[in-house]
Amino acid sequence: MLSPLDSSIVCRLPRVAIIGAGRVGSTLAQRIAEKNLADVVLLDIVEGMPQGLALDLLEARGIELHNREIIGTNDYADTAGSQIVVITAGIPRKPGMSRDDLLKTNAKIVVEAAKSAIAYSPNAIFIVVTNPLDVMTYLAWEATGLPRNRIMGMAGVLDSARFETFIALELGVLPADVKAMVLGSHGDLMVPLSRYATVNGIPITELLDADTIERLVDRTRNGGAEIVELMQTGGAFFAPASATSLMVESILLNQSRLLPVAAYLQGEYGLKDVVIGVPCCLGFGGIESILELNLSNSEREALHISAQSVRKNIERSQEILAATSSI
Ligand code: NAI
Ligand code: 2OP
Repeated sequence: MLSPLDSSIVCRLPRVAIIGAGRVGSTLAQRIAEKNLADVVLLDIVEGMPQGLALDLLEARGIELHNREIIGTNDYADTAGSQIVVITAGIPRKPGMSRDDLLKTNAKIVVEAAKSAIAYSPNAIFIVVTNPLDVMTYLAWEATGLPRNRIMGMAGVLDSARFETFIALELGVLPADVKAMVLGSHGDLMVPLSRYATVNGIPITELLDADTIERLVDRTRNGGAEIVELMQTGGAFFAPASATSLMVESILLNQSRLLPVAAYLQGEYGLKDVVIGVPCCLGFGGIESILELNLSNSEREALHISAQSVRKNIERSQEILAATSSI
């Protein structure tokens, strides 16, 4: 028989709350638990579903060799004291639907989720995943009133991983040897920085001709839509969950990884009061710093066009939210 000793010292492991236990949320829960990063609380509006998923994940613990706690719930009180809150709640894109078509439904869901979650985890760092990503991150920032280092969106890590994948496939090299960064908004106006893409330090401009690079850039821009068209029943979730777990890991382990993250800008890159993907160092404090790259004129112009489109949609979503709340 095991005899318990002094249990007066309570040592809580980090806790990550995932709001929205759909495909991205549940896969992220699996990644976080199996990497042994934190305990996970999966919350969804659908009754029974997050509880079932949590039980399923718990039953795999012995096989996957981890002991993370995984709770499924419909009650925000169970998310209390989370270090990180990830918002994936909302509807995903359907075939033929643009990310911006999602704006109306998801704006309301994200604002409510952000307000409910912050009430129970006032010290948490928030990562938004719901689309349209940059706009939803802005709305969550506004709804929570968080300082900008503690709220960010996930998209650039995914878009960069797609660009890296296509480069690796083209060259027949190990994907991990390819490094690339995609800035800007998550959508057709994203800004893949081909100039900075390398294979173990060798610029891809020395390995691929301009037309091939442009083809890979185009495929990256349409990376999400390509999967939606193939699947017909929703969007990507394996790579999005991996990308989000990388951000969670860098924050919880204070790794200071330099990653493209959707951040609230206050003058960086000549942009203000907008959320857009830029290179950020992620550590214990969330966004610890923003790196301002020396962009070429065309890259800077592309980033500004991308930001203008986000700003327009922020204004549209604010109008929608104001109209809904006055009904
Ligand atoms: P999904 O439909 O599988 O999951 C969404 C979940 O949110 C559902 O389980 C639903 O019941 C839940 N939900 C809806 N309203 C809610 C509310 N008020 N409170 C709590 N939960 C609620 O969708 P999936 O594939 O997981 O995608 C989730 C979101 O993430 C979508 O908006 C999608 O477009 C976006 N996404 C963003 C990516 C990015 O790079 N930023 C990549 C992949 C997906
Ligand atoms: C993606 O890029 C749909 O935003 C989602 O896969």
